[in-house]
Amino acid sequence: MCGIFAYLNYLTPRSRQEVLELLINGLKRLEYRGYDSTGLAIDNPESNNDDGSKIMIVRRPGKVKVLEEAVTEICKGDEYKTKLTTHIGIAHTRWATHGSPSEINSHPHRSDLDNSFVVVHNGIITNYKDVKRLLEKKGYVFESDTDTEAIAKLIHHLWQQHPTYTFRELVEQAILQLEGAFAIACKSKYFPGECVASRRGTPLLVGIKSKTRLSTDHIPILYPSAKKQRAYNKKLPADIPVLQPAPFNDDTPAEDELLEVKEVEYFFASDASAIIEHTDRVIYLEDDDVAAVKDGVLSIHRLKKSLDDSHAREITTLKMEIQQIMKGNYDSFMLKEIFEQPESVVDTMRGRMFFESKTAVLGGIKEYIPEIKRCRRLILIACGTSYHSAVATRQLLEELTELPVVVELASDFMDRHTPIFRDDVCFFISQSGETADTLIALRYCKQRGALIVGVTNTVGSSICRESHCGVHINAGPEIGVASTKAYTSQFISLVMFALVMSEDRLSLQTRRLEIIEGLENLAAQIRKVLQLNSKVQELAKDLYLHKSLLIMGRGFNFATCLEGALKVKELTYMHSEGILAGELKHGPIALVDDEMPVLMIVMRDPVYTKCMNALQQVTARKSRPILLCEEGDEETKSFSSRYLEIPRTVDCLQGILTVIPLQLLSYHIAVLRGCDVDCPRNLAKSVTVE
Ligand code: M6R
Repeated sequence: MCGIFAYLNYLTPRSRQEVLELLINGLKRLEYRGYDSTGLAIDNPESNNDDGSKIMIVRRPGKVKVLEEAVTEICKGDEYKTKLTTHIGIAHTRWATHGSPSEINSHPHRSDLDNSFVVVHNGIITNYKDVKRLLEKKGYVFESDTDTEAIAKLIHHLWQQHPTYTFRELVEQAILQLEGAFAIACKSKYFPGECVASRRGTPLLVGIKSKTRLSTDHIPILYPSAKKQRAYNKKLPADIPVLQPAPFNDDTPAEDELLEVKEVEYFFASDASAIIEHTDRVIYLEDDDVAAVKDGVLSIHRLKKSLDDSHAREITTLKMEIQQIMKGNYDSFMLKEIFEQPESVVDTMRGRMFFESKTAVLGGIKEYIPEIKRCRRLILIACGTSYHSAVATRQLLEELTELPVVVELASDFMDRHTPIFRDDVCFFISQSGETADTLIALRYCKQRGALIVGVTNTVGSSICRESHCGVHINAGPEIGVASTKAYTSQFISLVMFALVMSEDRLSLQTRRLEIIEGLENLAAQIRKVLQLNSKVQELAKDLYLHKSLLIMGRGFNFATCLEGALKVKELTYMHSEGILAGELKHGPIALVDDEMPVLMIVMRDPVYTKCMNALQQVTARKSRPILLCEEGDEETKSFSSRYLEIPRTVDCLQGILTVIPLQLLSYHIAVLRGCDVDCPRNLAKSVTVE
């Protein structure tokens, strides 16, 4: 929802200007997560004192570019060129949840007019009103409409109550009072050179860069001592609800087990894409981890010990390449990602599809296949585009698994409190792996004993970690807010699952073989579809001044209609509707006349005749639909002068090819309408709020 980025250099000289540039750069990488306002905090250059020096906060409504301009202006002074051996800066790009996108509502938020404690936050604090009310009674005056401000002020309040607490202990104490979801990074003028960060329910990782190779691959986890626990419990302010204290931990690792390195830099970010250009060594924090850096030493603490807690957080190596998160020669990430699809679909199949032996293997769920085969039903749960990938593959899953297949929008699924049983297998499909609605549904199903299968594009994401097993779609980083290559890779992942499930079904072998052959030819066919780009651009010129676009189809192409309409809506702000052609006569046909733009998908598949009926009904109302039809299909083309010819593939894979012209169409209409393609208004890439 929002992006947070923090940087700390220890014994690694950097000027304030360098720190500011680094923070801005980090925000640019995270901008896709939210982009209505931005801000950062660094040590105030006017005072180099360790105590009493104010922290400087710069905040701006608008995109990172606006903040960058402000920072460039500020950096003109010589004091910004002086090298500092240690410094900490925190930064934020916002997707508004509480309060409009104004300067005052932008992060970082502060505890007081002296900026004693400043906080950046991603997520929602659900009990912030209670905390705010308490703090107001204590004399705190709130300046913003946000929930985050309560965190900064709460830390300050706790500091006044417990002046001997360390910065980390203050943050620990504060998060004990918070309900909801958060990833936070905090800085304080009273604790120069220290950064404390924590997460619950939204992602946060720590990047570590040091000249010398680290002597360890793990950071031990520490727990508060029994004495500190008692102190926490005794001294909590009476009118803040007290959460359960952590059990005592007698196995606390000795201090000398901590990672100790000289000349080190730390990066805290919501997403690896902001870190990869600095280091590939990262730690994915878990819920309720508190990561603190003091004197260059990173330590990770937990408030509670549970039985399945590991004793350390592993330092992992990111597999991502820097080029993957750059735009290259493209004008936008979205266009780049659309054109990456010939390669991304191959990456999804790599090591899983064996075309010579005509077999499919999904390593991440292999051991669970016998259990899945015995299940009562398959339930596919997701939101937005990821949901459409479930709709797109449902028919094939029913056909090849011979099981009941239910597809659910995560939000609706939870609204209904849908009954779930131990012998259900629930798939959670999510590009980001962090979508709150999907994650909540996952936990709901897990509690009820169902087998949880994650289908995600983000290694280390919450859905990925909380699933029993799963499939990484391996589409590579998707930065454009509109999902494109993730959709085709999710689609293929689910097709491969259907192939795995039907491997030993003799009666299904002919069908399986034609699908496997179709998958083998897919990359070349996608390249061919992408050659339609200039033709699609011409069609966009016919459409971009209209108010609406109806997209019709049925069978295996209905999902393409839904997905195409979603792309048009989110990118162009035009109304668009995906209509099941079979439903046309039950209402939507009333919309059709010689003015209303219509796009119809009419492929030579089992529902071809039915689609032709719909086409005739539409043309009889003087509509001149744009047609997506099969290459060389003269009969269908004769119904309209505007058509796009799509290469022939097996019916159940057509949706992969038919969706691409619609991705391109929405892109070109958006460009013609002057819309920001990568960052459409009011949206964010990762929706971590319900
Ligand atoms: O990360 P997820 O796949 O869970 O995201 C789900 C939706 O928020 C997402 O697909 C959204 O609909 C996209 N903006 C569509 O392009």
